[in-house]
Amino acid sequence: MISIRNPLLLLLMLHEAIQYHDGIYGPGLHPKEVVMPARYFFVNITSIVGQKYTSKLNNDFAVEIEGTSAKTHYCRIWVNKLNRKDGTFIVRYKVYETCNDLSISLYYKSKHIGGSPFTFKGPILPDQCYCPEKNFDKWFKQYDCPKSYDKVTHDLELYGKVNMKTQLKKIIHRFHKPESTSFCHYVVKNNKIYRNCYGKHVGFNMFADNILLFLARKVVLPDIELIINLGDWPLVRKGTEPLPIFSWCGSDETVDILMPTYDITESTVENMGRVTLDTLSVQGSIERDWSERESKAIWRGRDSRIERLKLVDIARANPDLFNVSLTNFFFFRDKEQDYGPKQPHISFFKFFDYKYQVNVDGTVAAYRLPYLLAGGGMVLKQDSPYFEHFYGLLQPWKHYVPVARDLSDLTKRVKWALANDNEARTIAENARKFANNNLLPQHIICYHAVLFSEWSKRIDSEITVDDGMTHVPQTPFTCDCKTDQRREDHQEL
Ligand SMILES: *[C@@H]1O[C@H](CO)[C@@H](O)[C@H](O)[C@H]1NC(C)=O
Ligand SMILES: *[C@@H]1O[C@H](CO)[C@@H](O)[C@H](O)[C@H]1NC(C)=O
Repeated sequence: MISIRNPLLLLLMLHEAIQYHDGIYGPGLHPKEVVMPARYFFVNITSIVGQKYTSKLNNDFAVEIEGTSAKTHYCRIWVNKLNRKDGTFIVRYKVYETCNDLSISLYYKSKHIGGSPFTFKGPILPDQCYCPEKNFDKWFKQYDCPKSYDKVTHDLELYGKVNMKTQLKKIIHRFHKPESTSFCHYVVKNNKIYRNCYGKHVGFNMFADNILLFLARKVVLPDIELIINLGDWPLVRKGTEPLPIFSWCGSDETVDILMPTYDITESTVENMGRVTLDTLSVQGSIERDWSERESKAIWRGRDSRIERLKLVDIARANPDLFNVSLTNFFFFRDKEQDYGPKQPHISFFKFFDYKYQVNVDGTVAAYRLPYLLAGGGMVLKQDSPYFEHFYGLLQPWKHYVPVARDLSDLTKRVKWALANDNEARTIAENARKFANNNLLPQHIICYHAVLFSEWSKRIDSEITVDDGMTHVPQTPFTCDCKTDQRREDHQEL
C-alpha cells in the first residue's frame, strides 16, 4: 500500500481517487503512475454483475479505452481483452503516443458497470518516453513494489561493501574465457547506460540492455556497476571466492546473484510487442476449460538433455497417458533414428488442450515454467539442481507435482492425477494464482528494481565510466514529460 507523508500529495490523490468495485483491480488503473509497455488490470465480471460464470459472459462484457492526443483527435491505443474462462478477464492496453483524458469504460450488455467510465487527466505516457521520475522511492511506491525479496537478500548476503574495481579485475581474470563464457560489465551513471562485453557470444546483451533502458526511462536509477553473465550456466562455484556475477539461472552448486531470466524479462518489456507469449497472454489464449481438456501429459521441446529422450521412451510405453515429441535434434543427433522423427512445433497455447504439463530441464532450468504455471495446467516438475529467481517460493503438491530427476515416478504421478482430478485441478489453480502474485510484468519490473537498488547500496568504490565503454542509448522518441496541468492548459491557448 502507498503511504503518504506529503499532505499536498494526499489532497491531490484524494481529488483523483476513483472508487473501484472490488472486482476491478490492477496496475493498469494507475496509468499515470505506472508506465508499462502494456498496462493491465483485472475484472471479475461474476462478482460485479452477481452472476455465475457461463461462456456467454465473454460476449456480454466489453471494454473501451479512449483518449485524445495533441496531434490527432484520438490517441492510438490497442486494447486486448483476455478471457480466463473463470468469470474473470485481464484487460491489457498499449498506448502508442501520449494520451490526454484517458477513459476506461467497462460494459456488461452495453451498460456501464462497476463505476465505469474511469477517467484520467493526462498525460498518459507510452513506454518509449524518456521521462524518468527523479525520486526513486516515490517511483518505487507508485509501482507498489515490495521493500525487499527474500531471494535478493539471500543472494546479496555474501557481499558487504564491494569494491567493483577490484572485483571486476578478479572476474575478468577468472572467467574471461572467450570460447565458453560471455559477460558484460555494465555501468549506470547519471541514468545513462554503458557497457563493456567480454567473450565471443555477446548477442544476449540486448536483453540486459533492454531492462536497464526500460527502468531508466521510468526512474532515475542509482549509479550502479554490475557484471551480467550472458550464458545460461551460472559461473561462481560454491567454495570458491564469491565474486558478484548476475545470472539468469542459479544452481545448487553456485552462488551467482539471480535476475529474472531474459525470457520472462523480455516478455515484460516487449509485452503486446515483439513477444506474444507472456504470463498474461497465456491466461487468455487457452481454448479449453479444465473439464474439456484431455487427461494426458503433454510435452514438446528439443533434445537438450538425456531425460528428454527418456521422456519419449516413457511416453511411447504409455500412449494413453502422454503426448510427447521432440521438435529438434541438436545435442543427440545420432539418436534421431530412435527418437525421431522430429515433430513440428505446436503453439504453446495448445499445450493447454491437455490437463498436465511436463517441465523437464533443458541445458539448465526450462524457462517455460512461468508460462506453464500461469496457463493453469497441472505442472509435473522434474526435480532439478537448477532454478530461476522465484523457485524458492514454489511448494511441491501445492503449486506443482514433483517428479524424480530420472523421471522414474513420472508415470505414477500422471496416474495419480487421473485418479484425483479435484486435487490436480486445485494444484493447477494454485499455480495460476502463484503466477498472478509473482510473475506478472509488474513483479518482474519490481524484482529488478529492488535488486539493482539493493546492489547499488553495497558498492563502495567510485562509479566511473571507463575509457572505451560503449554507451547504450535510448531509442529517440518525442515525448512531452511535463505533468503540470496548468502549463499544459496554458500551451493550448
Ligand atoms: C470473482 O468474485 C467472486 C465473488 O466475489 C468470487 O467468489 C470468485 O472467486 C472470484 N473469481 C476469481 C477467479 O477470483
Ligand atoms: C498429440 O498432440 C498433438 C497436438 O495437440 C495432436 O495434433 C496429436 O493428434 C496428438 N497425438 C495423439 C496421439 O493424441
